[in-house]
Amino acid sequence: MDCDILRTLYLKCNGEVLCNDDVGERVSLGAVDAQDPSWSIAQIFDNDKYAHIRASLVSGRVPWDGICQRCAFLRPGIPLRDQLAQRVITKLQVEPSLACNLRCRCCTNREQRKARSKPHQMPLATYERTLQSLQDEGYSLENIEYCGQGEPLTHPKFHEFVALGRRWFPEARQRLITNGNFDYRATTRGVPLDEIYVSCDGVRQRSYEQYRQNGKVDQALQFMSDAAATVDSRQQSVVWKYILFEFNDSADELREAQLTAARLGIDTLLFTVTSSEHRSQTYTLDTLGELEIVSPNVHVDQCATYHEGAAYGHRQAARFVPEGKGSWLPIRRRPPSRAYLDEVVSLPGNTLTLRGWAAATKRLTHVQIFCDDQLVGSAKLSAIRDDVFEVHRHFMNQRAGFYLSAQLKRPLNPSAQISVLLLCDQRRRGRLVTTYQFAPAPEA
Ligand SMILES: C[S@@+](CC[C@H](N)C(=O)[O-])C[C@H]1O[C@@H](n2cnc3c(N)ncnc32)[C@H](O)[C@@H]1O
Ligand code: SF4
Ligand code: SF4
Repeated sequence: MDCDILRTLYLKCNGEVLCNDDVGERVSLGAVDAQDPSWSIAQIFDNDKYAHIRASLVSGRVPWDGICQRCAFLRPGIPLRDQLAQRVITKLQVEPSLACNLRCRCCTNREQRKARSKPHQMPLATYERTLQSLQDEGYSLENIEYCGQGEPLTHPKFHEFVALGRRWFPEARQRLITNGNFDYRATTRGVPLDEIYVSCDGVRQRSYEQYRQNGKVDQALQFMSDAAATVDSRQQSVVWKYILFEFNDSADELREAQLTAARLGIDTLLFTVTSSEHRSQTYTLDTLGELEIVSPNVHVDQCATYHEGAAYGHRQAARFVPEGKGSWLPIRRRPPSRAYLDEVVSLPGNTLTLRGWAAATKRLTHVQIFCDDQLVGSAKLSAIRDDVFEVHRHFMNQRAGFYLSAQLKRPLNPSAQISVLLLCDQRRRGRLVTTYQFAPAPEA
């Protein structure tokens, strides 16, 4: 049994460290004390709570009975991966502020503001002390995410959080999750982020405000457009996160959202499902693949890190065939194009989801994915993949990452061949052909 808690750290605005940002908010694991010069993060990671979490997971029991069973971090069928023991943190989640300008229907924000001890705006000293201690104790940090149960951009010094993150962990990718009901430049002060997720559940005011009460959809769209306009110089990726509720899931609104995302130059429009009240009845995790996709920068969030009934593709064989002539030749010792599939998952409902990257010395824009001979769909290369660019510096597109989730017309062959066709101005630049065996859980 595995749980993300052994690779993540969730820091609340008042310095508390909690189990996670959902049902695990009930479990306190310790607190950061920026006033005490002898305080260290080791006091939290080596405490009884963490010892209990480890001992429980090792013996196949949930650490907090009645809570963990409802927690999205739990991976019941997957072998334990204790990355904290290796001093690796994949995500530090920080809640800069518990204040919020909206009143979304199912959010716990109002209850938390009543119940949680202050401060509700995180002092910069709390954040810096945490970063400093992680550094002193030799932790590596892969991602920092500004998100909690409030709105990060209500913190007047939000930009200083980002600067502190860069100072202490320059390699970490920084992600902001916001409702976008702000002026982009005034609130971020132009500070460079790696990813901005804007929660915007609808494209029409009438449906959007049913959930996002007090919110203005035009302002959220403007925020995304302004953030996207500065993308190229900063290489920040803008993701429009659209939760499917019963009041925003009509076919014509979903289509309009996709066309709007393309018009505004937003890198990715992500349709996702929720288990909360008012969730869409039309689209569930099992039927999301049926949502009609009309634009390649759109994907649906079925590639959950853990999904009951999922079968994971285990790579058996792969070959990459570059195509193209002329300007490719001078650099032929280095590959002119390359692609890779990081994850291929088959979900109930005959849906295939994929995550991967493709890059070339020509500016690639799209890939087409085939499963055996069947065209699964097209995906735009929208996600920034610094890891790819680090290794293949001669490739043009730092935006090499793609996602795709689509329903297959025929049942998946358990030893399927997945191929990725790399396209540049409609011309082929290469093809990756990989054979998979599908089995219930990923290899340990
Ligand atoms: C509580 S919000 C805080 C950040 C910011 N205020 C916002 O709304 O994006 C954190 C995340 O919760 C998500 N969220 C809000 N209501 C939800 C619901 N009913 N079901 C699932 N996720 C929800 C938002 O889309 C966002 O990604
Ligand atoms: S599954 Fe349990 S231990 Fe893991 S984060 Fe959730 S509440 Fe905490
Ligand atoms: S904007 Fe975010 S934090 Fe605020 S009420 Fe909505 S979901 Fe909650």
